[in-house]
Amino acid sequence: MQRRWSIAITGGILAIGAALLLAQNTSWLTGTVDQKFDTLANIQPGLGTVMIEYSTRMGNIYYAAQAGNWGMAAYQLKEMVEIQEVGETTRPGRAAALKGMEQGALKPLALDIVNQNLTAFNTDFNTAVAFCNACHAATGFDYVVYKLPAQPEVPAKLDTGQTFTAQQLQTLLAGILAP
Ligand code: HEC
Repeated sequence: MQRRWSIAITGGILAIGAALLLAQNTSWLTGTVDQKFDTLANIQPGLGTVMIEYSTRMGNIYYAAQAGNWGMAAYQLKEMVEIQEVGETTRPGRAAALKGMEQGALKPLALDIVNQNLTAFNTDFNTAVAFCNACHAATGFDYVVYKLPAQPEVPAKLDTGQTFTAQQLQTLLAGILAP
């Protein structure tokens, strides 16, 4: 008898807990469907948040290239362009400048990665950094000056000793290399 009571009480507590959890999960998203969409749209990452990932990947690309890990460099560049596209969507006023950065500064880096040409990569990397800071100056953020970190931020081994074919790298970078 006592056991049955305790099972019933446990079941009741679980049900109340689940109801509380469900209520908590949805209570912040209120109003009409349109209002809910607005609430969700307003918390999508803007350029400041996008730039944190953008610059982290920039440094990762650099260190991957120095380590001869061209696959990792290509992957980081591909992801960099993907987060850039989030910025283009949420801040359409900046989309043209970001596209200009991609065509003018990131595409040359993509070609250097496919060619596994470190000398050309290092030159084009410096040009790309100049592009970053020129855009900061042009948009009123001249105090944001990119600086390569002393170490890559990605917690991954970069000197894996792997070799890559141009085809493999081209496949990873197909989006940015497309005319
Ligand atoms: C569209 C022009 C543009 C380009 C190109 C650009 N940025 Fe930015 N960046 C901005 C703007 C605008 C901000 C300020 C963000 C905001 O609106 O809050 C910013 C902010 C930043 C920040 C500060 C982020 C933070 O909040 O902590 C960093 C770091 C940064 N950019 C790095 C880079 C790097 C690295 C590149 C090049 C690989 C780059 N940016 C290219 C426009 C640009």
